[in-house]
This record gives sequence, C-alpha cells and structure tokens, in this order.
Amino acid sequence: MSSERISRRVGAITESATLAVDARAKALKAAGEPVIGFGAGEPDFSTPDHIVEAAVAACRDPRNHRYTPAGGLPELKEAVAAKTRRDSGYEVLPGQILITNGGKHAVYNTFQALLNPGDEVLLPAPYWTTYPEPIALAGGRTVVLPTDESTGFRVSVDQLEAARTPATKALVFVSPSNPTGAVYPEDEVRAIGEWAVEHEIWVMTDEIYEHLTYDGHRFTSMPTLVPELADRCVVVNGVAKTYAMTGWRVGWMIGPADVIKAATNLQSHATSNVANVSQRAALAAVAGDLDAVETMRAAFTRRADTMHRMLSDIPGVTCLRPQGAFYAFPSFTALLGRDIGGHRPTSTIELAELVLEHANVAIVPGEAFGAPGYARLSFALADDDLTEGISRLAEFLGRAA
Ligand SMILES: Cc1ncc(COP(=O)(O)O)c(C=O)c1O
Repeated sequence: MSSERISRRVGAITESATLAVDARAKALKAAGEPVIGFGAGEPDFSTPDHIVEAAVAACRDPRNHRYTPAGGLPELKEAVAAKTRRDSGYEVLPGQILITNGGKHAVYNTFQALLNPGDEVLLPAPYWTTYPEPIALAGGRTVVLPTDESTGFRVSVDQLEAARTPATKALVFVSPSNPTGAVYPEDEVRAIGEWAVEHEIWVMTDEIYEHLTYDGHRFTSMPTLVPELADRCVVVNGVAKTYAMTGWRVGWMIGPADVIKAATNLQSHATSNVANVSQRAALAAVAGDLDAVETMRAAFTRRADTMHRMLSDIPGVTCLRPQGAFYAFPSFTALLGRDIGGHRPTSTIELAELVLEHANVAIVPGEAFGAPGYARLSFALADDDLTEGISRLAEFLGRAA
C-alpha cells in the first residue's frame, strides 16, 4: 500500500507565483508596510454598474437559485456566440461553447479534453504561469520555446517547426500576451494558423486580453484568419479583464462540438454550472457595449506610457513598450551579480525579494514565466501608486555599483 499522503500528480503542482507575490504584498500591507504591488493580474476598476444591477436582479429571481445545464445558460451561450461574431468575426454556434468558471477553468478543461499521456504541447515563453500545470495534470509534456525582446517576444513559424515532433499535439497561442504585453501582427497570426493546419496541430488560443491593445496594435483571432483551423482550435476567453470581473468567475471555451461535448461531460462531474448570478452578470456584460473597456483602455494606455518611460530611464533596465494586456516585462539581466546596497542578487527571484524588502515594491520574477532575468510589472494600479512604486524601484536599483 502506498504511504504517500498526497498523490504524485497533485503533489507536483507548484503554487501560482503571481498569486504568491500578491499574497505576500497584501500581508505586508496588512501589517502596516506601505507596499506598492505590481503583482496583480486584474483591473483596478469596479465592475460597471449595469452588470452589477443585473446580478442584483438575478439574486432576487428564484430561477437562479437552482441548477441550470452544466454547460451554461442557453441565453449566455447565444450571447457569447453573438459577441464572438461582433468582436472577432468568428462564426460559432451555441453548441460550440462551454461556460466555465473563468478562463482558467477553460484552459484546464481544454487540456483534459485534448491530451493523452505523452502528448507534447508547444508553449512559447515567457508564458502565463498557469499553462504548464494543467498540461502536466492531463499527462501532457510541455515543450517550452524561448523568445526574447529581439523578436518582440513573439515565436516564429521556423521555431515552431523546429520543435515539432510526431508527438506534438497542440500549440498554446496568446495574443495580447501575459506576461510580455506582446501583440502578434495579423500576418504572423495567419502564418502560425496555416502552419498548424498543415501539420494537423491543435491550437488553444487565449483571447482574454482581446480588447486591451495600445498604440495601433490590434488583436486578430486565429480561427477567423484561418477558417480551416476551426476543427482543431479551442478559443479561451472570459469577462474578467474586459469588464473588470475577475471575482465573478465566468469564462468560456469555444471549440468543435465533439470537444465541447467532452469538456461539458467533464465539467458536469467536476463543478456543474457556473453560479447563475455570475452567469446573469456575464450575460449583461457580453450583451452590452464596450464603453467600460474603452475607459479602462484610456487609463492603461497612459499608464503603459509612464511605466515604459520610467523603467527605461533606470540604468541597467531595458523594457519593450507594452502593446497589449496590462503588463510591462523589463529585463534586469544587466543588474544581476552587481552590488546593490550591500546585496548581490544573482537571479530575478533574489532581486524581487530584495526589492520587496528594501523598497516595499512587489514585482513578479520572470522565473514564474519561464524567463529568468526579467520581471513582470502590472500597470493595473492607480497612477500615483505607479509613479511612486517605480520611483522607489529606481532609487533602490540606482544603488547598483
Ligand atoms: C493569459 C490569461 N489567460 C487566462 C486568464 C484567466 O482569467 P480568469 O480565470 O480570471 O477568467 C488569465 C488571468 O490572469 C490570463 O492572464
């Protein structure tokens, strides 16, 4: 009999580094430290009033006190199909949609539905810290494809082709990207989609930051540009980032009907339907206009500018201008190994610890995203906090000898 208390499968999961940094920063703050956190992956805006009001009304309606179909409210699926047509030009039927507990749950369901043990998944780095875990839980093997600022943190078809083996089942594609803020131009999205079709590779394309792009960069949806991909494509999306609804936990996956049916069966035994009140709120969100995200986008554009300028002014720090999402991903490699106020950090993990301890600033080390030497700084925080936080960072790093 096994003496292991925790299964090897689950025991191997590492804590989410982004949530860990955020939790540590919040704990220090609660203890009275004036910490400024750049760790959060969520808009600092409230959910728009009309969405909250729809939820209030939903609470009072006894229909929402009951189970609904595990795959989601039919009217929400219809609305997601209409929203997808409006925003991406992608035509899908409600039967190709599964409403999930956030985009994260859609990612989990996707890999559970697609992967067999030993299947390889190509994952361009820097990557969102969550992806490797659900791939491993499904028995898949993550194949990391490093990128850096020389290519704008974008992977090329040549790189994908060099990594392809007979075991390659899927590619994870994310644009706009967390953590780099990179947005792929349309011709590159098309080329990658065509490569996937040619080699019968599935693509899970994460479109959760679709509406957050800056300076003329524009989101394009791979299955719209390459319609032949539709039979091997899963789109992941949700209300979290577009409508400042991270806490409501509503996302969705869009895919071929057989994959959606399989994932719905899985979900019916795991979580059943997403909370109905949240689904009603999401319905009000996706059926409504995009005014709220426009307001956020204006603020994020301004903050992206400030952050990029202030980071680039710090000697030893280089930073690409964020093109989308709400993150900057500067490189700190030139500072590693140097004396900073009597300390000599050799990794960005150590540097992030020092910065938190001595400057009261929380940043997420690049190691969490498969990219040592970098760190992720969210600009989803108030302008004054942003300026103060980067000034403190500059002051501390300015001590480097
Ligand atoms: C790239 C990406 N995909 C998906 C998600 C999941 O969002 P949620 O589960 O809150 O809908 C996030 C959240 O940080 C993300 O950054």
